[in-house]
Amino acid sequence: MLPLSFKFFSIVSIICLWTSILYGQNHPGRGVRSKHAMVVTAHPIATKIGVDILKSGGNAIDAAVAVHFALAVVYPNAGNLGGGGFMVLRLKNGETNTLDFREMAPENASRTMYLDSYGNSTGNLSLQSALACGVPGSVDGMITAHRKYGKLPFTSLIEPAILLAHQGFGVTARQADELNSEAENFQKANPLGCAFMKTTSWRSGDLLLQPELALTLERIRDSGRDGFYSGETARKIVKCMQSSNGIITLEDLKNYKSIWRAPLRSNYKQFDIITMPPPSSGGIALLQLLTMNEFQLPTTRGLDISEREHRFIEFEKRVYADRATYLGDPDFTVVPVDQLLHKSYLNNRLSQFSPAFATPSVDIQAGHIPTVESEETTHYSIIDAERNAVAVTTTLNDSYGSKVVVNGAGFLLNNEMDDFSIKPGIPNYYGLTGGEANSIAPRKRMLSSMTPTIVTYHDSSLFMVVGTPGGSTIITSVFQVITNVIDRNMSMQEAVNQKRFHHQWLPDEVKYEPGAFSKKIEQDLQRKEHVLIPRESIGRVDAIHVLPDGSLEAGADYQRGDDTADGY
Ligand code: DON
Repeated sequence: MLPLSFKFFSIVSIICLWTSILYGQNHPGRGVRSKHAMVVTAHPIATKIGVDILKSGGNAIDAAVAVHFALAVVYPNAGNLGGGGFMVLRLKNGETNTLDFREMAPENASRTMYLDSYGNSTGNLSLQSALACGVPGSVDGMITAHRKYGKLPFTSLIEPAILLAHQGFGVTARQADELNSEAENFQKANPLGCAFMKTTSWRSGDLLLQPELALTLERIRDSGRDGFYSGETARKIVKCMQSSNGIITLEDLKNYKSIWRAPLRSNYKQFDIITMPPPSSGGIALLQLLTMNEFQLPTTRGLDISEREHRFIEFEKRVYADRATYLGDPDFTVVPVDQLLHKSYLNNRLSQFSPAFATPSVDIQAGHIPTVESEETTHYSIIDAERNAVAVTTTLNDSYGSKVVVNGAGFLLNNEMDDFSIKPGIPNYYGLTGGEANSIAPRKRMLSSMTPTIVTYHDSSLFMVVGTPGGSTIITSVFQVITNVIDRNMSMQEAVNQKRFHHQWLPDEVKYEPGAFSKKIEQDLQRKEHVLIPRESIGRVDAIHVLPDGSLEAGADYQRGDDTADGY
């Protein structure tokens, strides 16, 4: 039986929420403002829960944990129990840390598990089967973060999610469309049915009830880690694996561990960037891009209309070529972080740079480092009243992950194994290639592009919390949003709204959101021989900017998603 106080809490929250959505925000160009604290997430209900936790005395880490579990209910295409992610945090006293709760390859995984006897790819097993699932990290991640930094009791952070799963919530119009478009995949992956399937089409406002998920959340509330990684939930995961060709065992679940890792740090102009180290590729790539952007490069004489865009594209090609060669799980491969971030190395990477022409990707390889031995995610940003800051990006990989719902436990499993390089040269779902550094091995973490990031001034006061989903485009979106604010003086919301573009070395093309380039810039880029390909929206950035007077401005990507900011 649910406590009365929670029912009251939920009704009041939802009324306040819609009032704030109707009256408080979503002016293009100006984000939600607040004096003390701010939460920005991919779903209005999760945002509201985060704010309620902060108002009731929780800190930013408490709010992050509550938001994470809430998103697992109200944003099932990426919010998750069955996935993983990264947390970057900075406390009011200046302490910084990152938590890696990325999925791990199961013990029985092998380098050639997605190849046939001729060494060819066997199709989409790394994406659409139980064999695509890495050992989930999210539940251990949230418990580990809370144990070290949380203030409120864990039960009070997970309870709102339990309530939502039991009582249901009305899906948004966007969610109804997404659920309808995945109907066939859910059917295929879940012959016994699941909460996301129904006999008629989903419509905006339809109630999504998840009673089995509620029971799983209750087991986590009551037994902590053991409520997921052993006992009934673990047995259900393994049963699901056995009935559908998967390889995760009870032992794999028991052995999962999230890892505290020292953040990557570097300077950009008068700012310090605090970001995620490997197995994220995002932190290194972001710092490489920002450093390159500070170099003086040759310019064409006269007015160069597309100078900024051309530079960014050329930087990105070189950075993604390095990513494909050098980056992987640092517990398995030596990642030459210092060399990759060294100014002279990066300067050298630009020696072929021409201001007048695109360098073809075939002429770009990873840089030479002599000493080396060996589309659905979600992001949330939180700042509390004491100025503790948290950036979390979490994912099942593709939208709804493997589409496999653990029968009787109500949550989706990831298809994160596809983020490994299944064979050198074979691109993954996001078109990324890789080699030895990101090959599959038991217990190894697959390389990620997720880039949760915190920016401070050199005097160490907080400046920005930022991150986004978007697969390989995550890194370039975070780069563009940071530079939109720092270099182009945009407000946080303008910086998020701005149309984006992306190059990832291979394929040799610039993907862009229609409107990212003016007609003149487009023509100029084509004259420089860039291949321009329009595509649908890139990323869903959720960010917070600390304004000079100390108040907060949110940038919620409400034009690309249901993303919502709220604060007090
Ligand atoms: O970790 C990664 O890089 C990917 N699995 C992220 C996937 C993603 O962002 C999908 N979202 N649109």
